[in-house]
Amino acid sequence: MSKLPNIELKPTIRQSVDSEVVPVFQKSKKIVPIKGPYASVINRFKKAGLFDAAYKKEEYIRFGGEGPALDVLFAGMGDPSKLSEERARVMGAGVYQRLSREKARSAVISIDPLLKVKGLKTGVDQVSLVKAFTEGMLLASYEFEKYKTLSKAKKTKGPGGEASPAMKLTFHTREKSTTALKKALEDAQAIVKAVNVTRDWSNEPANYGTPTFFANECKRLAKEYGLKCKVLLPAEIKREKMGLLLGVANGSEEEPRVVVLQYTPKAGGKSPGHVGLVGKGVTFDSGGISIKPAARMNEMKHDMTGAATVLGGILMAAALKAPNKVTCVMGFVENMPSGRATKPGDVHTSRAGKTVEIDNTDAEGRLVLADCLDYIQTEYKPEAIVNAATLIGAVGVCLGNRATAVLSNEDEMADSVIEAGKAVGEKFWQMPCWDEYLQDMRSPVADFKNIGKQGLAGTVTAGVFLKQFIRKEVRWAHLDIAYTAWNVTHYPYLPKEGASGLVVRTLGRLILDF
Ligand code: BES
Ligand code: ZN
Ligand code: ZN
Repeated sequence: MSKLPNIELKPTIRQSVDSEVVPVFQKSKKIVPIKGPYASVINRFKKAGLFDAAYKKEEYIRFGGEGPALDVLFAGMGDPSKLSEERARVMGAGVYQRLSREKARSAVISIDPLLKVKGLKTGVDQVSLVKAFTEGMLLASYEFEKYKTLSKAKKTKGPGGEASPAMKLTFHTREKSTTALKKALEDAQAIVKAVNVTRDWSNEPANYGTPTFFANECKRLAKEYGLKCKVLLPAEIKREKMGLLLGVANGSEEEPRVVVLQYTPKAGGKSPGHVGLVGKGVTFDSGGISIKPAARMNEMKHDMTGAATVLGGILMAAALKAPNKVTCVMGFVENMPSGRATKPGDVHTSRAGKTVEIDNTDAEGRLVLADCLDYIQTEYKPEAIVNAATLIGAVGVCLGNRATAVLSNEDEMADSVIEAGKAVGEKFWQMPCWDEYLQDMRSPVADFKNIGKQGLAGTVTAGVFLKQFIRKEVRWAHLDIAYTAWNVTHYPYLPKEGASGLVVRTLGRLILDF
């Protein structure tokens, strides 16, 4: 796992550090003067019209530090009335990237300007801004270096060297009471740690990242986070009659695994709700007999990101001691062509008893999910279920990579996902999930087929397929992350390529507020 920067909170800075970060604000398009050692520099900026502290603008001064650092980074926060947690998160990411470009190994972040800022929008509070800023810094620090031997060696002394140590960040405040601040910094670290587990899982090459590998990872993480863990081996999966999931696994040498993780809050609070999470864990999706074209097939190692995302959600909820119970079911399989693979036209029986004609073996995610959704409902009975999956490329045609599609059997449920997303700066857009689309999946031999009509509402038919496995009384939402799970470049706090880790923070928030 990419090492998180070290964080501490201190009232005085004695040691010398590489850089100091000073947030500065703007009013009526002019920089707001500040007190203290940088007052004259800021005044000179103002007079010369060089730096106006507009949002996202920065000024880096080398060897000009009047404070505890050699260098100073003035971070333009813009107009306080426009400041939001998301803006603070974006600024945190920009600051971290600048510090790394300037080769700073340690930095002091002066947070008093953020804590004292006046004129914020109602509903925005200073401590949450510090938390979001920290989150942005930490999210931006992620690198997947596990299999890089050359760049690791360059950073240290030679081949085989350890990755360079993470940046050291000291948050500086003269505030007397720091309990809320300390918690904000701890929460930010816990949140980013959960997101980074998701990113690491998603980036894992499929030759290492097999169903067995992820099931073992679950056992390890369950210990670390105090969760209950159950791993279903092939014999138990057969006993559970998960015929659709097994039909996907047929073609592969790798054995499937179904993993259940459970978080139970400590007794004492309100009577807890119970949220179910289900994730698509296709560790590699070749398409099976309906094989995919070669171009960009390597990206299908990420096809387990639904599982990685719900895992991140339960880890975040557990680390933040959510007041609600969570059960998370992940279906891990590899989708490969072989002499034993499912063929187009084959009929498989789901755990729920409904039969499905497999018209296209590349529409495998819904098959894995259908059995996992049925399993979580009968065995664990959550009040509401959210599933995440890289389900279909068509979602990219609808929404690009700017928003995750949400489909649900109840508008209020979709709204809670959208609202949780808004609270953490992640975007969702609801699409219909009407049963009339099931007609497009009519089969001459089985209850229905696993695909709709070519080029017609692929995202919707995929959701409607899943809906056939949801019992009437259960609230359910399906999140199609096929285009938001990786290579998302428009948020500065996401890696420029590979796993984004998006949607984890929304799921965590949803569980906290459920
Ligand atoms: N894993 C893919 C979906 C996907 C595509 C994820 C692109 C990320 C990027 C899924 O299993 C799949 O292959 N879906 C098919 C469905 C079709 C056969 C109805 C697709 O998208 O073409
Ligand atoms: Zn597929
Ligand atoms: Zn897939």
